[in-house]
Amino acid sequence: MNQDISLPGAGPAVPRPSPQDAVEPAPEAIQNAWVQDWRAQEERALADPQAYWASRAQELEWSQTWDTVLDDSRAPFFRWFTGARTNIVTNAVDRHLLTARKNKLALIWVGEDTEQVRTYSYFSLAREVDTMANILRAMGVEKGDVVTIYLPRIPEVFFAMLACAKIGAIHSVVFAGYSSDALAARIDDSQSRVVITADGSWVNGKVFPLKDLVDEAVRFSPTVRSVIVVRNTGTTVEMDPTRHHWYHEMCQLPIAKGRCATEQVDAEDPLFILYTSGSTGAPKAIMHTHGGYMVGTYATLRDSFDIHDEDRWWCTADPGWITGHSYLVYGPLLNGATVFMYEGSPTYPYPDRWWEMVERYGITSFYTAPTAIRTLMRFGEAWVRRHDLSSLRLLGSVGEPLNPEAWRWFHHVVGQDRCPIIDTWWQTETGMFQITTVPTMPGKPGAAGRPVFGQEAAVVDENGVEVEDGTEGFLVLKHPWPAMLRTIYGQDERYVNTYWSTYPGLYLTGDSAKRDADGWFWIIGRTDDVIKVSGHRLGTAEIESALLTHPDVVEAAAIGLPHAVKGNAVHCAVVLAPGVEPDRHLEDGLRRHIAATLSPIAKPDSFEFPEALPKTRSGKIVRRVLRARALGQDEGDLSTLDDA
Ligand code: PRX
Repeated sequence: MNQDISLPGAGPAVPRPSPQDAVEPAPEAIQNAWVQDWRAQEERALADPQAYWASRAQELEWSQTWDTVLDDSRAPFFRWFTGARTNIVTNAVDRHLLTARKNKLALIWVGEDTEQVRTYSYFSLAREVDTMANILRAMGVEKGDVVTIYLPRIPEVFFAMLACAKIGAIHSVVFAGYSSDALAARIDDSQSRVVITADGSWVNGKVFPLKDLVDEAVRFSPTVRSVIVVRNTGTTVEMDPTRHHWYHEMCQLPIAKGRCATEQVDAEDPLFILYTSGSTGAPKAIMHTHGGYMVGTYATLRDSFDIHDEDRWWCTADPGWITGHSYLVYGPLLNGATVFMYEGSPTYPYPDRWWEMVERYGITSFYTAPTAIRTLMRFGEAWVRRHDLSSLRLLGSVGEPLNPEAWRWFHHVVGQDRCPIIDTWWQTETGMFQITTVPTMPGKPGAAGRPVFGQEAAVVDENGVEVEDGTEGFLVLKHPWPAMLRTIYGQDERYVNTYWSTYPGLYLTGDSAKRDADGWFWIIGRTDDVIKVSGHRLGTAEIESALLTHPDVVEAAAIGLPHAVKGNAVHCAVVLAPGVEPDRHLEDGLRRHIAATLSPIAKPDSFEFPEALPKTRSGKIVRRVLRARALGQDEGDLSTLDDA
């Protein structure tokens, strides 16, 4: 058993599972649902998961079909649809051009200044992707090369991701709120030679200087040869003519013109890497591939959000996170949906911005995060009631547990008691939903739902033995699934150790959960040193290393504490250098330091300044004691601590 994992997690307590709380879907919400008899589909899929996934894969196009659905001969290095050839872009874009969807809107984009609107049909999206792909090719980007994308929520992020995929390059999207240090670390680790960015991004009426941060990040990079800059805010930026290129100027060059063929790749060829935080060490580059990821994101979105051609789909996630990859960009386009993307935040300039967008653009399916729901809930229902939300059909949630109070508000105030709420539990690693519902299933406020078709989950104790229903334990997944991570890029051993060594044959999620008597899973929170703050995934190790680069800090430990809106908040115990006195000024300085060296999303809420940190005799920080102290609880057994 990995000693790093311990129960209970830092997440908010879940109420006792009570099946009688189930909310049946309104009949009008499910009359045309793709999945009607979900029990039958669940049974069918579990009877033969490979046959099930093969049937889902057949709904998509392949230039060559597979020899084997699942090759587990080198488990846990699972391979899906081996021998098959396709490209996710063939299915997300190209195939729609041969149907009436050619003229359908693929993307409606609205800027933070809502007078700025850009729309793309599938046809024009294809042209934009070709242009970007031609430019990348002309810059020497080849199949298998990594391209770093550091862009705000603007249409070019779609073009860039799809263009990389189209030519078989691997994209590495870095959330445009990360600092230059964090960006540099990701560029270096992935050895990417091209970075795509923008002059700046709009954040609550102010410009965030993306290009300046890229300049700092690549100043000492031995690999980066070219930086493509999209003009977005019109900010003045320094352009080095030898390696900085304005995107709009490149689009005018002859090399950018014309069609670009979609490279047919092996189903197992890498599609992207995405960095995420783990328990220890530097962020991990999670690697996903074309074939399985395509099938998984397509099928799960279609089933759970019941995508139909007349839908307008809005996923509020940033493309810098896995939710943006799977369910803002790829999943919806694979389903031929109309995607809505908004550049700004939900509360700027007023807390009805999202509802205004829902009304103005007739959004039917709205997928967001619990933190946002809780934030908007605090502003009161009047902001919601100002708008006609009758277009909404389905609501969704992701990233952290949706507590019953927020579930009920979302259901009643936003969904007007008629929209099913689809809570989706999954991870950067899983690539696609793992535990969720389909609209025909009853919703249970606070529960994520059931394993997706073809999957089984279990709650086990530290010996890997399944616990009784209603008891908290470690959440594991029992079957491989097509969109699963294939490895941690360049770190195969870490992949095996992190996910597959604790309980052989079972995928370790890192979460704790309970299952109720109906088979619904209630997610509690992380059991490792990962903190979910406002749904963002942070590693305590990253926050600690950021603090340790501050001259006044000798030692530091970060923990998560329950927070009513953010789910968890970061609390830091910091041992200061001799002679440094803690005060508000110092705390603010530490916060600014973390924002500058990691990201503003990692700023601690609170600090304590002890003389020493509680440690085991082997020098490991005992976070359990810090957490108990911060919460005013019993510190438990201290006999194993180092006396010093
Ligand atoms: O703890 C779980 C939580 O988010 C973790 C995964 O974080 P990340 O890789 O950033 O992906 C987030 C978006 C898929 C999980 O281990 N989590 C995610 N969704 C839920 C959730 N916790 C409870 N309920 C959810 N629906």
